Amino acid sequence: MSRNYFMAGNWKMYMTIDEAKELASSLKNILKDVDSSEVETAVCPPFIDIPAVTEILKGSEIKVGAQNMYPKQDGAFTGEISPLMIRNAGCKYVIIGHSERRQYFGETDASVNEKVKCALEYDLCPIMCVGETLEQREKGVTNDVVKEQATGGLKDIPKEKMKNITIAYEPVWAIGTGKVATPAQAQEVHAFIRGLLAELYDENTAAAVRIQYGGSVKPDNVKELMSMEDIDGALVGGASLKADSFEAIVKFGK
Ligand code: PGA
Repeated sequence: MSRNYFMAGNWKMYMTIDEAKELASSLKNILKDVDSSEVETAVCPPFIDIPAVTEILKGSEIKVGAQNMYPKQDGAFTGEISPLMIRNAGCKYVIIGHSERRQYFGETDASVNEKVKCALEYDLCPIMCVGETLEQREKGVTNDVVKEQATGGLKDIPKEKMKNITIAYEPVWAIGTGKVATPAQAQEVHAFIRGLLAELYDENTAAAVRIQYGGSVKPDNVKELMSMEDIDGALVGGASLKADSFEAIVKFGK
């Protein structure tokens, strides 16, 4: 494998602290031989599990990420979690603009952009999600939607920061539905995003940004997806909640 793939597990609102500890311990053990220069691995637990998970994963190559953040260092924002807190708890990554946040919590390209900028200020690496709904795909506006989300989310982000950003292409119709995009469908959008990054920045910057695919990634479809030229990893929901299926995804090349 010549590329540095990036596999991240999005645990969503699953895993009590005890369950999270058990899963993190299993992953630490079964992924210990994975070479992170070939496949980097991260898990993104619910906020409340993060301290326990980072503690268990100390001394392992598995990184930890949060699933969201509020774009302020601190303040009277009841119920929110800041980038400083996330960083301080041992996270490297933060997922921003997941379609569930856009759909259920009113996130927009502007709020995504504010969060991406703020995460970078606190040395967190954003995993910025984009993706079309089924209706948008059927109308033939997938590229327009992805372009608007990517351009809006990356507004005013300077070129030198782009190496810290991962983009996750997650077609909404493929998330949690078992309906995975075909490798060719995913590749088409990934190549479009890569081209857009080259337009917004330059070819080298575009080549260096990792673009993950997300949406019903499973052990039995991961290999084919990863064989596509512009697919550099996966953001995995359901299949990241069991140690053996996440293991199979991370070790797809073996
Ligand atoms: P899924 O979720 O793998 O369960 O489809 C992916 C995601 O929402 O990141």
